[in-house]
This record gives sequence, C-alpha cells and structure tokens, in this order.
Amino acid sequence: METTTATVGQVSPVRQPFFSGMSHVSLPCRDIEESKIFYANVMGGELVHETQGFVEFRIEDIILGLSEQPQGWTDPEAEYPHYAFYISGPNFELMKSWLDSYGVPNYPYRRGDTALIYFRDPSGNLFELYCDTGYEGLLSLPLAPRRGGPPIDFRGLNYNWNSKGALDVDKTLQKPKFTAFAHASIFCRDLEQAKRFFTKVIGGELIHDVDGFAEVRVAGIIIGITERSGRPTGRDAEYPHYAFFIEPEDFLPMVAWLRQNGVTTSEPWTRDGIKGLLYFRDPAGNLFEMYCPKLKEADAFVRGAKQGGSYTIDFAGLNYQWNG
Ligand SMILES: [Fe+2]
Ligand SMILES: [Fe+2]
Repeated sequence: METTTATVGQVSPVRQPFFSGMSHVSLPCRDIEESKIFYANVMGGELVHETQGFVEFRIEDIILGLSEQPQGWTDPEAEYPHYAFYISGPNFELMKSWLDSYGVPNYPYRRGDTALIYFRDPSGNLFELYCDTGYEGLLSLPLAPRRGGPPIDFRGLNYNWNSKGALDVDKTLQKPKFTAFAHASIFCRDLEQAKRFFTKVIGGELIHDVDGFAEVRVAGIIIGITERSGRPTGRDAEYPHYAFFIEPEDFLPMVAWLRQNGVTTSEPWTRDGIKGLLYFRDPAGNLFEMYCPKLKEADAFVRGAKQGGSYTIDFAGLNYQWNG
C-alpha cells in the first residue's frame, strides 16, 4: 500500500481502515474557570493540559477537553448529546450524595437492572452514569420513561453553578470514582442514514437498534445515535467534537477512505510535525476528529495557524450532503 507519500490522492485502501480507540471528547463551556472547578471537584478529573482558553482533564480512560464557546452544549430541554461513564454500585450511591452536596441537580432512575443518573455540567452539557450491577437501591428508583416511569425533567437539571460553594463542601464525604467511559449519544437528523454511515464508513458494529435509537460499537466505545431531542455540533462550531485514535499505517488510508465515501474532511494537519490530525463531520454535522500521536508523514502536513503555520480549519466548510 502506498502510504509513504503524503499525497492522499495516491493512497488507495486495499482494506477498510479502522480507528483504534477513543482519544477524547471536547466540550464547549460558558466559563472555563468555573468549569475547571467543576471537572476537578465534582467529576474527579485530573488536569492534564492547559493552554489559553482550553483545558483537558483525564477522567479514568478518557480525556475531556473544555473550551469556551458562546453556545453548543446540550439544549436545556434535550437529552442529546450526552456522555456516559460506567460506575459501580457502591460508587453510584456515593455519587448521588456527592452531586447533592455540590448542589448539582440530578435524576437517578432505572431501566431493567441498570441504575442511571443524569446531571449536567455548569454549562448544560449532559452526563449520565451507568451502573449495570451492584446497586442495592435499584428498586427504589423510578422507572425510565419508556418503561412506564415519569418523563425526565431535563430542563430542571440546569442550574447556576456556585463554584465558591463547591470549594467548601463537606471534606469528610467519600469521593466517588467512575469505572470507565461508556458512551457518547448524539443527535442525528436521519437515523437510517446515520446507521449506514457509522457502520459502512466508520466501521462500527450495530449492537442495538430499537424505537428510534441505535448503538454502534466503534473502536471499543459505544456511540448512540437518535432522532430524539437534541442537536448536532453547530454549523461553524469546533465543540463538541469526538476524537478517535488511529494507527500510523491507517492514517492516510482513512483520509482517502472517508473522501471516497463522500465525506468532506479537513486537510490532514499538524501542530508540531509529529502528530497527525484530521477533522470531519457525520452527515448530521456532528464533528469528529482523528488523531495519531506519532506519524512520520505529519512532518509534511500543513501546520495550524495557532502554531505559527498557515492552516485554519473551516469548520462550516466541513458540512456536506451525504448521498451514501
Ligand atoms: Fe446514555
Ligand atoms: Fe480534539
């Protein structure tokens, strides 16, 4: 396979390239200083990277990025997009008290044997905790709306965050811990089209498909797709976006593969000549990124304007009509 040249047009994949893991999810926020306090204290994140207007927290096996943007978080009444972590039974109980003590509105409920909690970050980004075993209080929780329970008041989960109050929360409370990142569930305009896109182009495995909601497993994580309440990444916005890792030998073949499949992509670009980066959207406009930490071809890629190069990403220009 011709991967030694940086000229994408010359690469013709002999097999479908695949993403190798989930790198990060980057979310918009209203106020980065307030968000930093929330993600460190309430979410238990470790601050691993900070530049002007952008921070990254490691939470278990995923990096959550945060950048100030005037809008783009989950709509006040919407369920999508949301981001879920697995949590154990004992930690589920701790997390309920933890959120209460930080003044974060939350809604615990159950679906079958699974206990769940919805809550938002201070900007409105919606999170879910997913506990499929070991929560003793399971039967005391209300049923999910589609299992006969009351509707969830997503608007009521919005709040004005008082980060000063957060700093004098009871220090004797035991800190809960998440287990791992579970899923990102995103809004699409056309579920049948989204299913085709995430299976045929992205290479995901369809593992759940019922009642206006589908799940695909991609690179070890689950992406939920639905036409229910929500919106995709804004037309010209950079956040939220979802980033996959890719192995060096799959990077250029994936660029070619996406383009052959009618996906508009950014140029393959780099910040430092070492890391390879690419942005693209799904047919609904949700923004994705692929990231290779060390790619020899990256030396020849265009450099980002913020890094002294000439390349600025035209996020609006990444929208397209998909005919697949
Ligand atoms: Fe979910
Ligand atoms: Fe990113």
